[in-house]
Amino acid sequence: MSADLLELAIVIPTFNERANVPVLVAKLDQALKGRNWEAIFVDDDSPDGTAQAARELARIDRRVRVIQRIGRRGLSSACIEGMCATAAPFVAVIDGDLQHDETILPAMLDALEGDAALDLVVGSRFVEGGGTGEWDRDRVAKSAFATRLSRRVLKADLSDPMSGFFMIRTDIVRALVPTLSAIGFKILLDIMTASPRPLRFRELPYVFRVRTEGESKLDHVVAMEYLIAIYDRMFGRIVPVRFAMFSGIGALGAAVHFAALGLLFRLMGLPFVTGTIIATFVAMTFNFFLNNALTYRGQRLKGARALFGGWVSFCLVCAVGAVANVGVSAFLHDAQHGDWRVSALAGVAVSAVWNFALSSRFTWGR
Ligand code: GDD
Ligand code: MN
Repeated sequence: MSADLLELAIVIPTFNERANVPVLVAKLDQALKGRNWEAIFVDDDSPDGTAQAARELARIDRRVRVIQRIGRRGLSSACIEGMCATAAPFVAVIDGDLQHDETILPAMLDALEGDAALDLVVGSRFVEGGGTGEWDRDRVAKSAFATRLSRRVLKADLSDPMSGFFMIRTDIVRALVPTLSAIGFKILLDIMTASPRPLRFRELPYVFRVRTEGESKLDHVVAMEYLIAIYDRMFGRIVPVRFAMFSGIGALGAAVHFAALGLLFRLMGLPFVTGTIIATFVAMTFNFFLNNALTYRGQRLKGARALFGGWVSFCLVCAVGAVANVGVSAFLHDAQHGDWRVSALAGVAVSAVWNFALSSRFTWGR
């Protein structure tokens, strides 16, 4: 390849990694001497000013580029955007916190350039010569569990499907983008399971380094997103993940509705209809916040004003459902004078369908 042609893009997803940015660029410069590369930071508007730090570098070093995403979060989706933003034929993804070993990048590139049949090279902690560094037992166990779970969707014999460190032919990812789930942290697993044909990979060992600056963003929500991503690959075509979550939260909302109604109607002696109306609002508010935090996490409404507006719109679009709820349950209650819970459940079921259809469009739709 001619010395002037861009060979490789290194996509670096970042969230609050300001102190690591200049160190990483210096390390890339060292590791990739003689190669033609660019680094693309994809930052989700980190409060610590990571994007600004990267831009300052970009002004003096044209190999550095910055994508600053506003109002969005997500490691996988950030990686995808970065990978789509380059003209280089090869693209690598590497963490911005220096935990991945950038010194194996040239070997990854050589492997891909030297073997046209090879689709990607994966940095692995679990082949000879690799390692997880100083991981406590708990994290080793969790990682092993996640890896086992991934086997349910992954047909390839990857030793480290949880790895977020790999290099791939750019045109392959570009073709797969429409079928990626883009949920959570596991971009490599997403790519491997999206491909209609088995991708040909090679694994190169590396030792996962200890983080010295900033902190990990892997929390309970990320763990839950992983389960959602697996669900999406297994059943997403039958019951879309959004609807499954909305229904699950709806079921919790129904429990809240029952509890509130039981309290108001049975214990406090309010009329059934009044109790149902109040219980409906309590459940609606509960559902709004939970859906905002989970189902629509990627486009979550933030700040008091947006939240209030969203809540009002959620209540308004669900008003149809709430009216149906009150109507159906009150009608059944009057008609049968039987079990009040059956009446309430029928009302909730009718409103749930309405709520999803209307709110996905009007409350969280863009
Ligand atoms: N743009 C963006 N948006 N970047 C993010 C986000 C986000 O929402 N969340 C995390 N990042 C960035 C971090 O700033 C860091 O550069 C990189 O993604 C990895 O995030 P960490 O929070 O450091 O993750 P980790 O070290 O716990 O997990 C790593 O190890 C896993 C294997 O155990 C990641 O490399 C995973 O991809 C990997 O699977
Ligand atoms: Mn990390």
